[in-house]
Amino acid sequence: MNKLVEKEAPQSFQNVALVIGITGIVGNSLAEILTLRNTPGGPWKVYGVARRPRPSWNDNHPVHYIQCNISDEHDTQAKLSVLTDVTHIFYVSWSSRPTEAQNCEVNGAMFRNVLRALIPNAPNLRHVSLQTGAKHYVGPFELFGKIKPHEPPFTEDLPRLNAPNFYYTQEDILMEEVQKKEGLTWFVNRPQVIFGFSPYSLMNLIGTLCVYAAICKHESVPLMFPGTKAAWECYSIASDADLIAEQHVWGAVNAHARNEAFNISNGDVFKWKHLWKVLADKFGIEDYGFEEGSSCLRLSELMKDKGHVWEEIVKENQLQQTKLDEVGDWWFADVILGGEAFLYTMNKAKEHGFFGFRNSTKSFINWIDRTKAYKIVP
Ligand SMILES: NC(=O)c1ccc[n+]([C@@H]2O[C@H](COP(=O)([O-])OP(=O)(O)OC[C@H]3O[C@@H](n4cnc5c(N)ncnc54)[C@H](OP(=O)(O)O)[C@@H]3O)[C@@H](O)[C@H]2O)c1
Repeated sequence: MNKLVEKEAPQSFQNVALVIGITGIVGNSLAEILTLRNTPGGPWKVYGVARRPRPSWNDNHPVHYIQCNISDEHDTQAKLSVLTDVTHIFYVSWSSRPTEAQNCEVNGAMFRNVLRALIPNAPNLRHVSLQTGAKHYVGPFELFGKIKPHEPPFTEDLPRLNAPNFYYTQEDILMEEVQKKEGLTWFVNRPQVIFGFSPYSLMNLIGTLCVYAAICKHESVPLMFPGTKAAWECYSIASDADLIAEQHVWGAVNAHARNEAFNISNGDVFKWKHLWKVLADKFGIEDYGFEEGSSCLRLSELMKDKGHVWEEIVKENQLQQTKLDEVGDWWFADVILGGEAFLYTMNKAKEHGFFGFRNSTKSFINWIDRTKAYKIVP
């Protein structure tokens, strides 16, 4: 158990959170925010679940850390059914599989395993908060460009697309399982691309772009935008990980928000051509930009043989030990920067009383700074 937890004075908690995916990009923000003294609903006792041992960049929050593989029903029952004081579940986890049919199966089972370990065993459980995402409106990665998405800006009441989607599977399981306990409420939020920090995340755009910039700097080559002209020029939106965590908490403690799904983005728009200058400045790169007319650069191609370069950078700068394929989610950057962004609205959240927002440029800078401060990049 972590030192801060040991030092925790005996006290009565108002609420007890179980965060599934505590080392992920939003889990890491929830670990920080839920354990602050002035967080609504607090003081919160916090349990956090992930498979790997607790990393140093996550261990300064007073969280009871539990290593558990939630895709294993027996492990989940053994380790989570004993947490009888849990009042709120925050589910911010997923697993990636080659096809969406497999994603539905695996992610559905993971979520169900957690709910079935808790709902019958935690008498004070009151609320389940599930994080899905904007693919709710456009379909899974494998069908991008193959099915017709809804017309943006997306609103939460749009009907489901006629395509497999693990978000739909998880929502169906949520509705089915919460029926089993009287008074149990639910909340779903649907972020766009997340600006946050976690070297363990499967989709960390900022970390990925920082690693790319560090490699360009090391090799003294220009920091060229690895995307399309549409992505360079269009308005984009993003969701700050701390803001998403704040919305999860708002959903948990606010009666207006219960049993509803909400979009969650920063509330402004930005252009990659403007953020690119910020990224170049942060890494001390003078030559950067977008080359018109060239075929679109793809990071999964550009970075595929750079493992040894990354090893050199880590060693020279005494960074935390990481492998390039852990910290560079190239496929994800290729998807996000590969075409025009889809916009959606924050009207429903505002109409229900959530007014949180972030300045996306400041958010971009903040997460680059944190990635540097934790010595993931120079
Ligand atoms: N990241 C984005 O930009 C983004 C944007 C929009 C929507 N979303 C959606 O948000 C949801 C959550 O994703 P995320 O990006 O926040 O997650 P993430 O950063 O990839 O983190 C996943 C977390 O879950 C844990 N985990 C994974 N498999 C597990 C298992 N079998 N048992 C226990 N723990 C497990 C991971 O730690 P271990 O690996 O150590 O287990 C990690 O703590 C997903 O539905 C995703 O599609 C994400």
